[in-house]
Amino acid sequence: MSNILHITASIRSDAESVSRQLGQSIVDGLAAKSGASVTTRDLAANDLPFVSAERFAAGLTPAADRTTQQAKLAAIADTLIAELLAADTIVIASPVYNFGPPASLKAWADLVARAGTTFHYTANGPEGLLTGKKAYLAIAPAAPRWARSSTS
Ligand SMILES: Cc1cc2nc3c(=O)[nH]c(=O)nc-3n(C[C@H](O)[C@H](O)[C@H](O)COP(=O)(O)O)c2cc1C
Repeated sequence: MSNILHITASIRSDAESVSRQLGQSIVDGLAAKSGASVTTRDLAANDLPFVSAERFAAGLTPAADRTTQQAKLAAIADTLIAELLAADTIVIASPVYNFGPPASLKAWADLVARAGTTFHYTANGPEGLLTGKKAYLAIAPAAPRWARSSTS
């Protein structure tokens, strides 16, 4: 059975958020077609830590060699990476905040980017290791009307 990982990031509710509604309609369409199960990770909960030197080192240390403290530090990234590995389809629904992705989405990306696990370095530069997956991006910048009225 296939599994969809649905990442949401808008600080607005399901009823208000364009990216949430767009992402949900993609997930609903895919799930109806394939019968896939859905795992949702709502980054608007703002419960992901930013990367630190200690957390980065803990992630790169093989699980069997981690200290108790390193195991604790690596746990959240281990969970997020496991969610990614388990998914064959990833739907990322995101607003645009201050000309880029929300900080919560970057925090997620920093945690799941682990050399040797989700990507590796080659002579030609970094290469992804999570092959054979499909990703959909549902990105909602401001509507042109909103952007015009906010600058006039
Ligand atoms: C804090 C904040 C910053 C924003 N910055 C931008 C921006 O830089 N560019 C843009 O086009 N829209 C910006 N917007 C508008 C949102 O991208 C727009 O409302 C979009 O619909 C948000 O997605 P959502 O409907 O899923 O919440 C911003 C909105 C908020 C709340």
